[in-house]
Amino acid sequence: MAGLSVKDLLSADDIDDADLADVLSRAAAIADGATPPRTPAKMIGLFFEQESTRTRIGFDVAASRLGHHVVDVSASPGSRLGKAQGEDLEDHIRTISEYCDLLVARTQHVVTVEEIARLTHIPVINGGNGIGEHPTQALVDLFTVQRRLGDIRQLSVALSCDPTARHALSFMKLLKLRPPRRFTLCLAPETLLSNVIAAIIDDLRQHGTEVDRVDDIEATLDHDVLSIQTQKASSIISGRIGEMDSVQHVEDEKFTLTADKILRAHSKTMILNPLPRHSETDKSCDSLPNAAYFEQVRFSIPIRMAVLSRMLSGRRWAGRSRLHSQAGWPETLSPISSSLLPSASSN
Ligand code: ASP
Ligand code: CP
Repeated sequence: MAGLSVKDLLSADDIDDADLADVLSRAAAIADGATPPRTPAKMIGLFFEQESTRTRIGFDVAASRLGHHVVDVSASPGSRLGKAQGEDLEDHIRTISEYCDLLVARTQHVVTVEEIARLTHIPVINGGNGIGEHPTQALVDLFTVQRRLGDIRQLSVALSCDPTARHALSFMKLLKLRPPRRFTLCLAPETLLSNVIAAIIDDLRQHGTEVDRVDDIEATLDHDVLSIQTQKASSIISGRIGEMDSVQHVEDEKFTLTADKILRAHSKTMILNPLPRHSETDKSCDSLPNAAYFEQVRFSIPIRMAVLSRMLSGRRWAGRSRLHSQAGWPETLSPISSSLLPSASSN
């Protein structure tokens, strides 16, 4: 099975138990003040097709703290990528692979990150691929829970979110490696679950997790952990609802968390949110001890340092050896990233 290990971190499926334990313990050591061994400075390429604050700046800061350098290799007004007189994704990636030692990519379409990983010999980290996955965000979420509350296997965890949101899919896949005592999805009753999510839920049940589904955020406030994001996350990420709509999107009151609801329930629930927030997490929650979303931002640095140092030392991921018969993105295949191909209408 060792031969099936992969150089890239594209999905939470790439992570097995030992990989997860390794990343969490490296991150814990860094968070506790240990300095990772100094290695020769490397060059990290940041390839971002979508907006990002935390992932883009977080990897930049993590790389700097490790003594590495960062270069922006995204399509930009000054780059040839995607221009009529320019070049295509393949030549772009082959070129930057000669300059960089590792790439972090956030892509508009699900398959683009796999295309990039296939085109290069250097390791690639998926920093969010369309409506696919966001594996480093899931590692951040798990690490933040562990730092505050200990082993997630002893805890009850609720997820109030569009279940196809990329951070949510990666988070649920990681939960399979550390099944919580209880897991509750908070969703509108009409929301259908994909086969992938249904399979994860079956898997959790088989591992003894009590699984439930509710349709009101107040029903999650007896859990140890609530990960909340808008019920429209996937549509916003994939741009299916227009830019103005996404800015103005107002969450249904039943899925909106406020300080009043937390205080009324005498809730001690730890609140996670990958951010950016929409109207699902009212700012009145921020001053309560429950709020852990800026703690997640803080802990994203040791996690990203742990992932970078592991991958730059050549360590591979063994998770897909468990899943070698399964396709990578069974339900979310999107067309090839046409935005990156030369187009006659631009120059
Ligand atoms: N920032 C996260 C992502 O890009 C979560 C979100 O935007 O909902 O996936
Ligand atoms: N959590 C997260 O991915 O944030 P950004 O979209 O700002 O990177």
